[in-house]
Amino acid sequence: MYFSAYRPRRLRRNASLRSMVRETHLRVEDFIYPMFSAFGENIKHEISSMPGIYQQSIEHIVAEAKEVHALGIPAVILFGIPETKDALGSDAYCEQGIIQNTIRAIKAEVPDLMVITDVCLCEYTDHGHCGVIKDGDVDNDETLKLLAAEALSHAQAGADMVAPSDMMDGRVEAIRAILDDNGFEQIPIMSYAVKYASAYYGPFREAAESTPQFGDRRSYQMDPANRREALREALLDVQEAADFLMVKPALAYLDIIRDLRDNFDLPLVCYNVSGEYSMIKAAAAKGWIDGERVMMETLLGMKRAGADLIITYHAKEAARLLRG
Ligand code: PBG
Ligand code: ZN
Repeated sequence: MYFSAYRPRRLRRNASLRSMVRETHLRVEDFIYPMFSAFGENIKHEISSMPGIYQQSIEHIVAEAKEVHALGIPAVILFGIPETKDALGSDAYCEQGIIQNTIRAIKAEVPDLMVITDVCLCEYTDHGHCGVIKDGDVDNDETLKLLAAEALSHAQAGADMVAPSDMMDGRVEAIRAILDDNGFEQIPIMSYAVKYASAYYGPFREAAESTPQFGDRRSYQMDPANRREALREALLDVQEAADFLMVKPALAYLDIIRDLRDNFDLPLVCYNVSGEYSMIKAAAAKGWIDGERVMMETLLGMKRAGADLIITYHAKEAARLLRG
């Protein structure tokens, strides 16, 4: 074809034509909204680095869950800030733990909203690591037992889905086994299959009060330099019977999202993490960017890279824009 005959601008001339040839669409149904449930009553504390996002006690969580559901967002993912933390993260797998109580409260009031739970120990351990410490590092196989107990207790409290984010080897298999042994074979596992050791989690650690008290997470989360390793991590989770795969963070890892989309047929989720949210909010507050447009373009980019679903703090704002 020659320039004189084919003119791409023909299909860009007006909004109707552009909408007819649009390849990627954002939908309200694509979003999963993260929430931070804090022990106590009457708590609604805004995270300083995440405007519009709060640590909240259960009654406020339930109120926001209703709002999320009314906007048409299908699911929330829950993080807990317990009353007390200890070396083994006991609140994580306690029947009256913060998350277990939150799940019951949401399901009682908004039963159609899908409740996904983050399965990890870092919010519940006094040392802030994602598992049991032995000889100065997280012990993989001891941690698996606790993660399995945590996932089971979330299912028993009524969670619709569990999402392990710890990056221990073999956790999907361990969680699948305990769920199946207890009659929860219908509860899907959304695996944080490919999770990098990222500085973009900074604001989240303020929100979840989960900063490691020594060292960092590089002995279990992935090296941001590695691309082939992402395929190996994802394959393992497929073999362990994960129902969803996730890539996290999203913005600096769009190539990884595309790799997983091209190599696996499971539903693919990406996590538009806290630091990605904070950067847009900060630049918008300074008047340096158009926050709404940059938000929508960023979310669209994640879908175009191949994500089916996006966990995002922007979910409510983006839903309002999409609903018009
Ligand atoms: C817990 C967990 C983290 C995030 C989700 N689950 C933090 C971490 O691994 O340090 C980060 C989410 C975000 O930054 O928005 N393991
Ligand atoms: Zn963790």
